[in-house]
Amino acid sequence: MRVEKLKDEKLNPANTRDSHLMFPQTRLRRLRQHPVLRDLVRETTLSVHDFILPIFVRPGKRIKKEIASMPGNHQLSVDRLIDELVPAVDLGIRAFLLFGIPASKDAEGSSAWQDDGIVQQALRVLRPVFKDVLFITDECFCEYTDHGHCGILHRTKGKGKDKVDVDNDATLPNLAKQCVSHVQAGADIVAPSGMMDGMVAAIRKGLDEAGFSSTPILSYAAKYASGFYGPFRDAAESPPQFGDRSSYQMDPANSDEALREVALDLEEGADIVMVKPALSYLDIIRRVKDRFGVPVAAYNVSGEFAMVKAAAQRGWIDERRVTLEILTSIKRAGADMILTYHALDAARWLR
Ligand code: PBG
Repeated sequence: MRVEKLKDEKLNPANTRDSHLMFPQTRLRRLRQHPVLRDLVRETTLSVHDFILPIFVRPGKRIKKEIASMPGNHQLSVDRLIDELVPAVDLGIRAFLLFGIPASKDAEGSSAWQDDGIVQQALRVLRPVFKDVLFITDECFCEYTDHGHCGILHRTKGKGKDKVDVDNDATLPNLAKQCVSHVQAGADIVAPSGMMDGMVAAIRKGLDEAGFSSTPILSYAAKYASGFYGPFRDAAESPPQFGDRSSYQMDPANSDEALREVALDLEEGADIVMVKPALSYLDIIRRVKDRFGVPVAAYNVSGEFAMVKAAAQRGWIDERRVTLEILTSIKRAGADMILTYHALDAARWLR
């Protein structure tokens, strides 16, 4: 009777104040005594198949430049990519997210959709070599524009003085062009990260019209205006030259709004939705998973990675233990896949 009632209320008896009345013999420590038993009752398991490793591609020859704030991660020239990806694939990593640092930038970010753009070059080299690997491309303009914002700018009337801001609707066709160009070069999945309204619908239409109706969209659906992107902006050479991204990325204080963002992207045709960053937003990951039950990606971003590395270098934390704990917690929160700079290390530790 009591149990039935609790089930109705969707309450886990273990969490209720009455659990000692319902299951008087329960001692939770019994199941913690033996390592095999702990394995048997473990609810979340982490696997190398959960990981997506970000890669930064840049122009030049024989370049492998370590990103100072992201130890173990590099900017790579196209000719170095194969050598770098082989060991990752040998470790079992099967999905990569490509970022491009272009040779030249302009106000529109036009090199993003050029057939010989940096990401397109990378894909043409990688695609024939790594047939069973998934290449996901980040679709945004902040790396490609000279002002560092995620789209075309326009001037809008503000109170008293004009304001320069990203022009949402003018940016959408460019985004579709960028995606089509990446897929033509060999991308398997496109991942728009610019937080423009309507971006998924515009891309879906663009891909379908170009004959790529089976290419999935992984949308950065709930992307917050976060201080945790600091090291990435060095890595991708993409900091905004003025202002910040608060007019398009989300306010860290909001949670219901994330559900609206996700609902909108799903309506527009997103196949996978992302929450980003991960650690300060585990509650969002859980809410999205519970509410929509769709594949959820979480981006364990550059600043989250850098904090672990910095503390580990000082000997203040156990890097392996903390990293695996973090990745497990992201999965436990509801993520199906994790974009993480820890992927190589974690893959080694999980062997
Ligand atoms: C935008 C983009 C950013 C990241 C991924 N895609 C930066 C930003 O929005 O400023 C951040 C990733 C990270 O910090 O690891 N193209």
